Amino acid sequence: MRVTAIAPSNIAFIKYWGKKDEILRLPANTSISMNLSNLNTTTTVEFSKDFENDSVEINKSTTDAPRVIKFIDIIRKRANIIGKVKIVSENNFPTAGGLASSASGFAALTVAATTAAGLRLSEKELSILARIGSGSASRSIPDGFVEWHEGDSSDTSYAESLYPADYWDIADVIAIIDEGKKDVPSTEGHKSAQSSIFFPDRMKNINNKIKNIKEAIRKKDFPQFGEIIEAEALEMHAVMLTSVPPLIYWQPATIRLMREVINWRREGLSVYFTIDAGPHLHLICQKKDERNVTKRLILIEEVEKTVINSPSAGARIITATSGF
Ligand code: DP6
Repeated sequence: MRVTAIAPSNIAFIKYWGKKDEILRLPANTSISMNLSNLNTTTTVEFSKDFENDSVEINKSTTDAPRVIKFIDIIRKRANIIGKVKIVSENNFPTAGGLASSASGFAALTVAATTAAGLRLSEKELSILARIGSGSASRSIPDGFVEWHEGDSSDTSYAESLYPADYWDIADVIAIIDEGKKDVPSTEGHKSAQSSIFFPDRMKNINNKIKNIKEAIRKKDFPQFGEIIEAEALEMHAVMLTSVPPLIYWQPATIRLMREVINWRREGLSVYFTIDAGPHLHLICQKKDERNVTKRLILIEEVEKTVINSPSAGARIITATSGF
């Protein structure tokens, strides 16, 4: 069977930074995220004994993709099939642009490949499997606003939906900043988290933070929610900056924009930022303010592009047909 699936990327409000098991990708802590409507990956998978080799095409170019083939081997073993695989995958955003692609990429691959292999997995099983491909991919399986339980084993570390996509009208306006040089990939970065002197303190307080953000989301208390996510992003970057060796993901424009956001708030615009392992800012606001936020961003020279996202459904199958 030839199966095509689509999956969104997601933005973490409480971050996943540091792992307690590298191979299984068990995170150091529970994280909370929202799926993004405008950053997604569409992936088609087919297994066949007629294919001579495994082949992977990402954004129209053929690649070796050993991480992808290793993941496919897990699925082949589980489904007890021996056919070679053909994978064609496309992001609707530039992979080289420094925006996360592993979350949407591995979530779409998990759904398409398991279905093509004849497996029928529950949402929880799909989330567990996607996690093994890339931790944040586990959160792109369920719908809308998502919690990834850290767990203490592979079977207990999975994501589930807290609320569907239409629960809360908030937006993520991404400000893409000119990168200059390439960042340390997040898989590498995770390894250094524990070397920061701030990491133990972060762990001490994280469950409290998760409780508070879930409360803010439940009440739809936007300012309370915004204060938590901004402080959380700065805390994760404090860990990155104080890791050995230090990880500096920010560019001068990143800092300039952080200051702008704080100024805009003083002027009465309710907007907060969060930042992942890169220089770009995610500006989180209510839907009613997204045009105002975008208009202001366009005026800033260092902002190359903006991408407006609303909350989105999780990974899903688009088509399943028999053979190429
Ligand atoms: C900073 O999921 O990319 O975006 O599990 O090694 O593939 P791997 O890491 P990845 O890490 C994402 C880190 C982050 C924060 C987050 O999304 O929670």
